[in-house]
Amino acid sequence: MTTGTDVAVFVGLQASGKSTFFDQRLSGRYTLVSKDLFPRGARNKQRRQMRLVDEHLAAGRPVAVDNTNPSPREWTPLVELAHAHGATATAYWFPPDVTGSLRRNAAREGRARVPDAGVLATLRQLRKPSTEAGFDAVREVRFDGRGGFEVRAEPLHAPGSPDDPADHGAAGQAAFGMRAGASARTGPTSSPAVRCLRRKGHPTGKRPGRPVDPFDTR
Ligand SMILES: Nc1ncnc2c1ncn2[C@@H]1O[C@H](COP(=O)(O)OP(=O)(O)OP(=O)(O)O)[C@@H](O)[C@H]1O
Ligand SMILES: [Mg+2]
Repeated sequence: MTTGTDVAVFVGLQASGKSTFFDQRLSGRYTLVSKDLFPRGARNKQRRQMRLVDEHLAAGRPVAVDNTNPSPREWTPLVELAHAHGATATAYWFPPDVTGSLRRNAAREGRARVPDAGVLATLRQLRKPSTEAGFDAVREVRFDGRGGFEVRAEPLHAPGSPDDPADHGAAGQAAFGMRAGASARTGPTSSPAVRCLRRKGHPTGKRPGRPVDPFDTR
């Protein structure tokens, strides 16, 4: 039995819109927990984060965990803590658009801007969250092109549907780091960092529509 309380776990690259999404859609209903809000020199941020989430859940407050949370290593303790409190765990999945993230990150200033290498390191770790991985629900979040967000519940990609990345539509291109309109022949747009990943054989450099989902956790 659940308490009706929820832990929202954001999963996405840096500069994918997670914090803006929280402000627009969840603030007021969820208490924000983010390592980005801890003092710079704070020790053991992971333990501090888990303690905060624990305290909020114990008080019956829904919590949103706004970090990149790229893989089961980060999710699983949060999912388990939610369930231990009788709460649900909902993943908010921000599909990777590495070119866009690098561009938006480059436009940021001060502490908000992270080294490109940090974005690429997260990309390598990033896995798509799923109910098989323990989440009670998964929602996919995309920019809506008007400064807001589109949120859809999984499962999203029935084969052949307009949302299927294999259809090479704008969404699929974005997920593979392609500029809308770039053809499969020309391949993904190339920042030096993305080219570097491609040379190393990372899926970012593969053409969309290949039957390989690099973010599939199965
Ligand atoms: N809905 C939106 N539509 C278009 N651009 C957006 C939208 N939301 C955010 N952005 C742009 O994306 C940038 C990154 O957003 P945000 O800081 O929310 O990302 P983040 O995923 O929280 O990044 P980080 O993981 O580094 O904290 C913003 O500076 C803004 O320029
Ligand atoms: Mg943020």
